[in-house]
Amino acid sequence: MARSITIKAPAKINLGLAVLGRRADGYHDLNSIMQQVSLSDTLVLTPRPGEGWEFFCTEPSLVGEDNLVWRAAALLSQEADRRLPGVRLTLFKQIPVEAGLGGGSSDAAAALLALNRFWSLNFSLHKLLDLGAQLGSDVPFCLYGGTVQVSGRGEILNPLPPLPFHWVVVAVPAGLRLSTPSVYRSLVLHRLSAPPVNDLARAIKEGDCARIGLWFQRESVNTLEEAVLPVCAPVAALKHRLKEMGLSPAMSGSGPSVFALVGSYLTASMAVRSLQEEGVRAFLCWTVPGNMRKDGGESV
Ligand code: C5P
Repeated sequence: MARSITIKAPAKINLGLAVLGRRADGYHDLNSIMQQVSLSDTLVLTPRPGEGWEFFCTEPSLVGEDNLVWRAAALLSQEADRRLPGVRLTLFKQIPVEAGLGGGSSDAAAALLALNRFWSLNFSLHKLLDLGAQLGSDVPFCLYGGTVQVSGRGEILNPLPPLPFHWVVVAVPAGLRLSTPSVYRSLVLHRLSAPPVNDLARAIKEGDCARIGLWFQRESVNTLEEAVLPVCAPVAALKHRLKEMGLSPAMSGSGPSVFALVGSYLTASMAVRSLQEEGVRAFLCWTVPGNMRKDGGESV
């Protein structure tokens, strides 16, 4: 009988995100640098009698056949095209939902990696990346992990050397969720500014911490802030609050999460504590290097 597997599904932040234009298929071409952080969901796979899968989640609003974990299981079993042992998938949710932190995409990637092993499918990473792209634009990055420059709609990966270790303050206005499609739809395309993400990629390749720090001194490193900040006061206020604390914040993905890279633990932990006292959902986490989970998780 297959053994239980526990796998982490880490969140991502966008260190820079340039929207280059709208495509014929309705998606947008991007140039972005994604970074995995330690804030994670946890997916547990346990054997169950018979065939097929069942899915439980600690966040009841996420249970259903449109959840990306469920869809990852459906896609893999269709590709396998043979009888597969029964599995119970339990998702312990920690990453805020619809926050621009890639939680759903990372859950899907974790499900692909762990089920590939649970069902002994032996699909290559290349094949999983292909399947991941069918589930969502950010899923290939989440499968790969670490620090990656992405292009196309997000599915073309150009791995970078690991970002030098940073503490990361991640903050989300309490109770606020933003739908990614609506944020993209509300972009005024002829007025887009595209931050020069290739400059940041060069600084990361050269391990130049001073230039990485300077990148976040820019007014905006994420085109999608133009669609969110003018109409979503709590995000603008949160960014302003982090600046008051002496940090250099940016919005992640389509928001509403805001993050800041910080060198000192004391500074990061004091910022998180103050934000929590002010009613903000704030997390103290750190940058995660790549190649952490290619084996598909821990067996227990
Ligand atoms: O690929 P995914 O399903 O995660 O994307 C969710 C939505 O975000 C898409 O339906 C699209 O509206 C928008 N999107 C986009 N351009 C991208 C990625 C996402 O317009 N590169």
